Amino acid sequence: MNIEIVRMDNQGRGIGFYNNKIVFIPNTLTEELVEFTIEKETTKYIEGRLIKILKSSSKRVTPSCKYYGECGGCQLMHMSYDDQLLYKKDKLEQLFKRQLQLDLKIEVEASSQFNYRNKIYLHEGGFYDVYNKKIIKIDECLNAKQEINEVIDNKHSLIKYHDRLIVNKEDIAFETLNNIKYKISYDTFFQVNKEITLKMFDYIKENINAKINVLDLYSGSGSIGLYISDKVNKVLGIDNNKKSIEDANFNIELNNINNAIYICDDATNYLKQLEEYYDTVIVDPPRAGLTKEGINLIQDLKPNQIIYVSCEPMTLVRDLKELTNYEIEKIKAFDMFPNTYHVESIILMTYCGFKGEK
Ligand SMILES: C[S@@+](CC[C@H](N)C(=O)[O-])C[C@H]1O[C@@H](n2cnc3c(N)ncnc32)[C@H](O)[C@@H]1O
Repeated sequence: MNIEIVRMDNQGRGIGFYNNKIVFIPNTLTEELVEFTIEKETTKYIEGRLIKILKSSSKRVTPSCKYYGECGGCQLMHMSYDDQLLYKKDKLEQLFKRQLQLDLKIEVEASSQFNYRNKIYLHEGGFYDVYNKKIIKIDECLNAKQEINEVIDNKHSLIKYHDRLIVNKEDIAFETLNNIKYKISYDTFFQVNKEITLKMFDYIKENINAKINVLDLYSGSGSIGLYISDKVNKVLGIDNNKKSIEDANFNIELNNINNAIYICDDATNYLKQLEEYYDTVIVDPPRAGLTKEGINLIQDLKPNQIIYVSCEPMTLVRDLKELTNYEIEKIKAFDMFPNTYHVESIILMTYCGFKGEK
C-alpha cells in the first residue's frame, strides 16, 4: 500500500490517510510518498511500518545510528538536528494554540546532538523496537556518554555515568552543576543531559526573585532547589522517593547550605497540610503531570509565581488549563533528549487573581 505523508504527529511519526483512517508511520517525513504495511489496525487508526520510500523529502538525512529505524529509542534521526529543533518548536506552538488558544513563539534551546545521556535502561542488552514487540540488542547508543557505551552488555540493566560509573544498587557517584555538588544514587532521578540541565537551572535562577521563600515540589535529590538556594531566603523541597530525600539532605550538608529543608511525602498530600506562604512554587512532576487536587491546593496557597518544569507537553497543557488564577509570562523549551520526540519546557506563571476578579 502506498500513502502520502501530510504532516507529523506528536511522537515524530508521519501521518497519512488510508481508507478514511488516519495512519501513523514512523521514520517518514511530510511530503514523502511511501509504501507501508499494517502493524496494527483499530476502528479509528492504523499503525504502519515503512517498507519503501517512493518519493523522498529533501529534508531526509541518513541516520548516524546503525540501529535507527528498528530500535525504538530514537524517532527523529532521519531529520537534521536543526530540523529536529524546528519540529519540537512547531509541536509546542501548535499544542499551545490548539489547547490554550495562545499564539506563542517558543524558543528551543539546543544541546549537543550525541553522547549527552548520563543514564540508559537496557532490557536484555538492548532497547525495545519501534513497535514495542521485541528487543533490539545494541552494542552502543549514540545518545549515551562514551563511558556508558564501554560497558553495554547483557548483564547490566541501568547504567549511569557521572564522575564515575554506576551499575549496581550500592554504587554512588557525584555530579557538579556550577558550584553545587550532588550525590547520585543508583535508584534516584537525576536529569539525563548535563549541558541542558545547566541551561534550564540558570534560566530558573534568572527568573526567580531574590530573597523569597521557594517550595520545590517533585524535588528529586534537591537539584533545582539547591542550585538556586544562594539567591533565595529559604527552600522547602518535597519528593516521595525516600532515597532522593536522603540524598537531598546529604547534599545540603555536602554544600554547606543552611536555608534548605527536604521532606519525603507525596506532593499533593503535603500541600493539604501546608499553611505557610511561599512566594514561588516550582513543580517538576513526572510525565503524568500534576494531580487536579494538587493544582487546586497550589492555587489556594496563592504563590506569586509558579514555575512549571515539564517533560510531557500533553499533561503540561492539561494542567495549565486548570491553573486559572495564573497567567503565562514566559515559556522556553530545552532539548534535553536530542534524536527523540521528547522535549522539556519551563513555563513561568504569575498570579493574576481569581478568574473574573482581575
Ligand atoms: C522529573 S523528576 C524531577 C526531579 C528534580 N526536580 C530534578 O530536577 O532532578 C520527578 C520527581 O518526582 C518524584 N515524584 C513522583 N511522584 C511523586 C509524588 N506523587 N509526590 C512527590 N514526588 C513525586 C520522583 O521521585 C522524581 O524525583
